[in-house]
Amino acid sequence: MCGIIAAATNRNVGKLLVQGLHKMEYRGYDSAGIALHQETSIVHLRCLGKVRRLEEKMIEEKPKGKVGIAHTRWATHGEPSEVNAHPHSSKERVYIVHNGIIENYIELKKELIEYGYAFSSQTDSELIAHLLDYFLNQKNTMIDAMHSIKEKMQGAYAIAAIDQEDSDSFYLARNNSPLLLGVGSEELFAASDPLAISDLTDKFIFLEDGDVVEASSKAYKIYDKNKEEVQRELTHLNISAQATSKGEYKHFMEKEIFEQPTAILNTIDGRIGGEDVLENIFGEGSNELLAQVKRIQVVACGTSLHAGRVAANWFSSISQVPTQIDYASEYRYKNPYIDKNTLLVTISQSGETADTLSALRYAKSQNYLGSLTICNVPTSSIARESDYVLLTNAGPEIGVASTKAFTTQLTALMLLALSIAKAKDINPKLRTRLATALRALPEIVSQSLELRGQLIEIAPSIANKDNALFLGRGMFYPIAKEGALKLKEISYIHAEAYPAGELKHGPLALIDENMPVIALAPESDFAEKLISNLEEVKARGGTLYVFGNAAGDLSIDSGKLINMPECDFLLTPILYTVPLQILSYEVALLRGTDIDQPRNLAKSVTVE
Ligand code: G6P
Repeated sequence: MCGIIAAATNRNVGKLLVQGLHKMEYRGYDSAGIALHQETSIVHLRCLGKVRRLEEKMIEEKPKGKVGIAHTRWATHGEPSEVNAHPHSSKERVYIVHNGIIENYIELKKELIEYGYAFSSQTDSELIAHLLDYFLNQKNTMIDAMHSIKEKMQGAYAIAAIDQEDSDSFYLARNNSPLLLGVGSEELFAASDPLAISDLTDKFIFLEDGDVVEASSKAYKIYDKNKEEVQRELTHLNISAQATSKGEYKHFMEKEIFEQPTAILNTIDGRIGGEDVLENIFGEGSNELLAQVKRIQVVACGTSLHAGRVAANWFSSISQVPTQIDYASEYRYKNPYIDKNTLLVTISQSGETADTLSALRYAKSQNYLGSLTICNVPTSSIARESDYVLLTNAGPEIGVASTKAFTTQLTALMLLALSIAKAKDINPKLRTRLATALRALPEIVSQSLELRGQLIEIAPSIANKDNALFLGRGMFYPIAKEGALKLKEISYIHAEAYPAGELKHGPLALIDENMPVIALAPESDFAEKLISNLEEVKARGGTLYVFGNAAGDLSIDSGKLINMPECDFLLTPILYTVPLQILSYEVALLRGTDIDQPRNLAKSVTVE
């Protein structure tokens, strides 16, 4: 949610900043901008639209400088436009880029207007530049001014700033929004995500809330929330260039769908030994903790929440533990009753989703047995702040629509269900069955990728519709929800999911030849009932696209039956996800949408 980057180097900084912005476009892409020191002045360029527009502007203007800041935006306050694009400046002296939301901005804006500051944008961010200018005018240093603005502002922010009167340095402040330093040889960088600067350095410092930084090409100083200078740990991270490029694929989403067999293999690698899950895979002491779990509370957002909904079935049937699931954005506001020995489980690809992070922080002050996260980014705030962590090891996911992150989250959640069962010493045969099935899963997922040809055939008959309905039962209802979410995110077709048994309680009224119905029909205890539900659709002229082997006896007049590869029933939700992802992708391709960066969305949502 907005990407910020800063650099102080001895080479031309503009190109480095723009390259970094390109790698962070998944965080927002409605406008972009840059400010850099050029001799005695600051060059300030902004434009509406994607980073490539800024790049074109830079090719025309050819700014030259060694210290600068840049931003790619996901609008919160104020429409996407050039004036609302960052960097914002105050009196052409201080320039800032911001990620987050300043919650008391109305009050601060009023105060600044009284002091004579004029606002040119509708953003909450612009006031940061004016506040800095205000404090600098009180004969403060830039570091003092950065500390002072923190005392005034409430909300979430990662800020990078430059001062026209100090051409060697950039300044940073962090509170509840990700920000890190990258340490190079005689050059310093900062960014919202290590990916942005991973080809410039492999040495990172993850800043903490309350930190303020002064950085030049030669040195940096970090001050904590008490204004004390502190040393923060240097982390070495090797992010391969291959992991962040599309390779032979047209889109990141396509690449990430096809990476799933390997990603799932990486999730289970080193976590299953012999015929059972290994002990303490969530961290030292996790076995003792899991033995005590009586209830689970899941909090997550978007696709990650869908993974939690599937896992609730596994926690119940494999681990004999009931689960409560809440949207992270809702959880705190319902005054949750926390039963004894409840484990908090957060699920997050990025580990930076503001709603999930806030829920985790709230939960830590409550009476939970402990907090455990399923996360893809080891250095993220959620991974760092949770008591126990299982990394999905899916590799960077760049397409905004989540694919391999979801199937690896499901795989990791299955490992959690098995670990709880093992810690409680229950269901040994089922554990052996599932450990064996998990080992075979990557190969079966590879087979499901081969369905692409059939999905390409049906994509045109969905691409020309305005709506679609997804049906599933049991564990397949959340998979139907995930299928509907994928379709609406990237093709902009309105899609809804229903438990198939609910069809007769309302949505049946919508069925006609313009409403494609996509149903998940694996062999199962509920197969017969599901087929009856599908007959109801057929009787009303609906077009059916049915995935699964239980639909064998169903004869359909329009649509298609798609046979699925076989796998252990409890793992089938993972398998059935894959063709739904491919179908959405193919439909979006036909509709010509921006698949990796769909309109209005962002991958890492760091505002509440
Ligand atoms: C955004 C993304 C979704 C993602 C959700 C939660 O909405 O577009 O793909 O599922 O955030 O993100 P997280 O990183 O916490 O899994």
